[in-house]
Amino acid sequence: MKRAEWEAEVTANLRKGQNLLDQGREGEAFSLLECALEGMLALARMSTEPALSVWTERARKLLQTLEDLSPDSPSEESPLKLIADTGVRFSDVAGLGEAKEVVYRRLVRPAINPEGARRWNQRLGGSLLIYGPPGSGKTLFAKAIAGELDLPFFTVTASSLFNRYLGQSERNVSRIFRDLEGYEAAVLFIDEAESLFERRNEDRHEVTNRVVTEFLGALDGVRQRKEGLFLLAATNYPEKIDPALLRGGRFGTPVYIPLPESAARAAILAAQLDPVPCEANLDLFSLAETLEGYSGADLVLLCQKAIDLAQDREEQTLCPTRLHRRDLEEAARTSLPSVRAEEIRRYESFRERSPGD
Ligand SMILES: Nc1ncnc2c1ncn2[C@@H]1O[C@H](COP(=O)(O)OP(=O)(O)OP(=O)(O)O)[C@@H](O)[C@H]1O
Ligand SMILES: [Mg+2]
Repeated sequence: MKRAEWEAEVTANLRKGQNLLDQGREGEAFSLLECALEGMLALARMSTEPALSVWTERARKLLQTLEDLSPDSPSEESPLKLIADTGVRFSDVAGLGEAKEVVYRRLVRPAINPEGARRWNQRLGGSLLIYGPPGSGKTLFAKAIAGELDLPFFTVTASSLFNRYLGQSERNVSRIFRDLEGYEAAVLFIDEAESLFERRNEDRHEVTNRVVTEFLGALDGVRQRKEGLFLLAATNYPEKIDPALLRGGRFGTPVYIPLPESAARAAILAAQLDPVPCEANLDLFSLAETLEGYSGADLVLLCQKAIDLAQDREEQTLCPTRLHRRDLEEAARTSLPSVRAEEIRRYESFRERSPGD
């Protein structure tokens, strides 16, 4: 935007904001005045003295107004969700042998054998970034890590930390770490991690920078007092993550969670179909071979569709039936893989650039 356009927008937002304030509509006024503040800061950035001082002073005054207006705590609800015991173990996650091995060495072994960890000069706790296509089992895998560590699982979606109310994003971050204070050891799982840990660039919002700094600072503070805090982060966009946090940085080498191989696909189908009546000798291995490209989530959906088909048949024939291979094959015809080949290539190429442990 050009200077004149910023100026027009700031003036318009200030006027409208003031009108709303006069009518007692503080919530609506707040967002308009916040936009005006952004505009003023942009104008200050593109100005030299004396205009710079004028815009800085106007922005300072407006900030004061906004702070006075800012609701104390628009949402007192914690952004964290707690699962005390995930009940998931590595054995519940099909495939992912390599990822399990890396996690065992990096996180699980030191935790279950602290004596050995000390002998080998390894720290307890730690951070790990997992990445991969949607539905490949990242969340399930993170829950399994908490299960293997026998720790409570706190989960937060990174984008939910950001809030348009002034200062609320920072309050969300401190709220998280306050909630964690009560636990000697825990797993904190950050989903959609790219929105919190994206690489710094000029377009990145000032609020994002402040929240990330606040988050990392608070994390280090807690870490110094509690060795047993594990940070797991998951993303579908690993290339957006700030490289300074990877390899040798805070997260170390990120771990790839690929789509399931044939044997893992068969295991996922078997787990989904275990509680339902299936025809005798249903060969899920040969079926799984035909389902290349299906994610774990796709396979769950496919089973659901096949179960629906079998149930429809039972309803129509009024005769108890079982789930047949042809139900699964028919379901596969309408329920195609959700991840495109070029998406997989994106992950593979990221992986080549950041080879594993
Ligand atoms: N390796 C696996 N073993 C067993 N079940 C799996 C596996 N992968 C996926 N699933 C099934 O698919 C569901 C969806 O997986 P999950 O939510 O963990 O994927 P995700 O990678 O976190 O997806 P998103 O990127 O959309 O967050 C799981 O709840 C589980 O039922
Ligand atoms: Mg997930």
